[in-house]
Amino acid sequence: MKNPFPFSASLVTTILDWTRARISTGQNPKHGAQSFAELEPTLGQSITKDGIGGEAAFSLFTDVIVPSTRPFGHPTSLSYVASAPSAASLSFDAALGAAGIFAGNWDGGAGAIHAENQALAWLSDLAGWDDAAGGVFVAGGTLGNLCALHAARDWKSRRSARPDRWAILCSAEAHSSIAAAASVMDVDVIQIEADHTGRMSAAAARAGFHPNVFAIVANAGATNCGAVDDINGLADLAEENDIWLHIDGAYGLAAIADPQTRPVFAGIHRAHSMIVDPHKWLFAPYDSCALVYRNAADAANAHGQSAVYLDAVDKTQWNPSDYALHLTRRARGLPFWYSLATHGTQAYGDAIATTIATAHALAKGISQIDGLDLLLGPQLSVVLFRPTRMSDDAMDAWAEQHRRSGALLCLPTTWQGQKVFRLCIVNPDTDPDDVLKTLKTLV
Ligand SMILES: Cc1ncc(COP(=O)(O)O)c(C=O)c1O
Repeated sequence: MKNPFPFSASLVTTILDWTRARISTGQNPKHGAQSFAELEPTLGQSITKDGIGGEAAFSLFTDVIVPSTRPFGHPTSLSYVASAPSAASLSFDAALGAAGIFAGNWDGGAGAIHAENQALAWLSDLAGWDDAAGGVFVAGGTLGNLCALHAARDWKSRRSARPDRWAILCSAEAHSSIAAAASVMDVDVIQIEADHTGRMSAAAARAGFHPNVFAIVANAGATNCGAVDDINGLADLAEENDIWLHIDGAYGLAAIADPQTRPVFAGIHRAHSMIVDPHKWLFAPYDSCALVYRNAADAANAHGQSAVYLDAVDKTQWNPSDYALHLTRRARGLPFWYSLATHGTQAYGDAIATTIATAHALAKGISQIDGLDLLLGPQLSVVLFRPTRMSDDAMDAWAEQHRRSGALLCLPTTWQGQKVFRLCIVNPDTDPDDVLKTLKTLV
């Protein structure tokens, strides 16, 4: 029978050659999103009855699609929470795709799952958890938070009567994905005012506590300001009320790899679950969130699926599908595992320390520039500042101009009611002197 999908070896080589070049040269900082109207004339015609051929389709990828994406992996990309995948993790990700591994259950992906679990164990060891801990890599922090909170409610509902409405308690600085998870779960959110640094104290959480709360979410690196909540105090509150403590460390918990910074997470050994995204500050490509439970069996109670066609799955083995809301999955934790196995944990700690040192150098530099007001930080690797003599509109224009030129991606956010600039460093190649040179153009 004729192969319906013929594809020449030379096209495979074309794609691999581009991949090799991309990994060695990195991203182009001048790239950025185009409008629908700009993209439509080429991409809008790409799906045809007879196909346009692999060469033409790949040219669309290299010449149209990639240039119309934001280069978050570039060292001058300091907005949102960017990404800084190592060359090892990027190269390996290409191989992983080719391996075509089903990593939903042990039968399908034993080797891959075992290796992913080694990477998860490194994180849970850093948190001070024992062998009962375990978890799975999911697509991102949003899904990780939802899955942890679903496990939390299931755990709580097995130990006490259900109230009319369940509630989650978190900081006003909690990531928007907590409210999104609450909406999916149809539970309430009690938001606690954070202090002037964005940190939720245990005293404030206690004052706002309600008996319907089944889980407290503690920030381990609030996205906007980098604050880490009082994890130990919140663990006391959780214990007193027999409720679950979840740590949202999607961005910031990566810093637990740095021995100097680790103490800010004191008390994490008492939490019930945590997330940290390797695609943020652990030098891995999109998309992966490490979701870890201190007692993994609690999660299996909540997330295990059963169906007659799944009866053949060996339930005595570690099946990642039992620990989050998914069944089929790629081994998305493996690029992180590969990079960690390649370089070792010391290199990870050092790389995190380098980014934090960069954030400190930037904060110091900003405080020394007349006309810039350092407002907060660094907290982990987030710095907030404001030009004292610039209007809000001029700030927007400056950010857009420098985004377009590729000099710097530094976008405004809001802090305590005013427009400010925010820097978030996750890339060890970010050069503070280079960034400060650009920031001087603000004055
Ligand atoms: C603290 C925190 N939690 C959750 C998320 C959501 O993660 P994701 O974008 O991977 O879904 C983010 C994203 O920036 C975050 O910073």
